[in-house]
Amino acid sequence: MKKVLKNVLDSEQIETLLNEFELNKFSATKDDRVTEEVDTWAKALPGPAIQIINDFMYGYKKVGGNYYRHDSPYLPHTDHKHKWGNTINVVVPLHSTDPNAKLIVFDQKWHKDSVTWCLHNGVWFFEYNTGVKGRPYDYKEVEGLTDEPISDELYQYLDWADKKQWFGLTGDAMSFNPGDLLIFDNKYIHATGKLDGIKIGLSLRYKS
Ligand SMILES: [Fe+2]
Repeated sequence: MKKVLKNVLDSEQIETLLNEFELNKFSATKDDRVTEEVDTWAKALPGPAIQIINDFMYGYKKVGGNYYRHDSPYLPHTDHKHKWGNTINVVVPLHSTDPNAKLIVFDQKWHKDSVTWCLHNGVWFFEYNTGVKGRPYDYKEVEGLTDEPISDELYQYLDWADKKQWFGLTGDAMSFNPGDLLIFDNKYIHATGKLDGIKIGLSLRYKS
C-alpha cells in the first residue's frame, strides 16, 4: 500500500509542527555524515503537536517515529519491526529548500526487522535499524526484485549512488510537498531522492 494524501495540513499546522521540532531537536551528529552545520542532521521526538496527525489517523495508533532534518540522502532502508505487527509509515513533509525533493518508495519488500543497506559505504551503525552490507539485490529474501537495471526514469532521482546499487528495484518517486501525507507499508524499501538543500519532516509509524 502506497498513498499520497494531498494538502492535508494547512500552513498554521505545519508551523506548529516545525516549532515543536525546533524546541525538541537534539543532537545531530552521526559524525561522518555531518557537514558544515553542526545540526544539519537532527532528530527530535514528537510531542503534543503530533495530535494534529493522530487526528487524521483516526482508528490507528502511533507506535513510533520522529522528526528529522537532513541535507543529504538517506540510504535505502525499511522501518518494520516484528514486535509492532503490521504498521504503516506516515511521512509528513514540513519544509524543504529543494522544490524537487523526493522520497523514493520501491515496490520491493523486506519482511524481517528493519535494515539499512549501506551500498558503497561498508557497514554503518544505526541506532534503530541494522546496517547491512551491499545493496538490496544482494539479498534474495527481498520480495519482488527484478533481474533488470533500475529504469532511467527512477534513477534520475537516485544518481547520488551508482546505478548498479539500485539494480533489481522499481518504484515510485513521491514529491516532498509540505502539507501532504505520504503513507506506505513500512516493509517497502525506501530512500531519499537526490537533495539539493535541506528537508525537515516527520516519519511516523501507525498500527491499525
Ligand atoms: Fe524510513
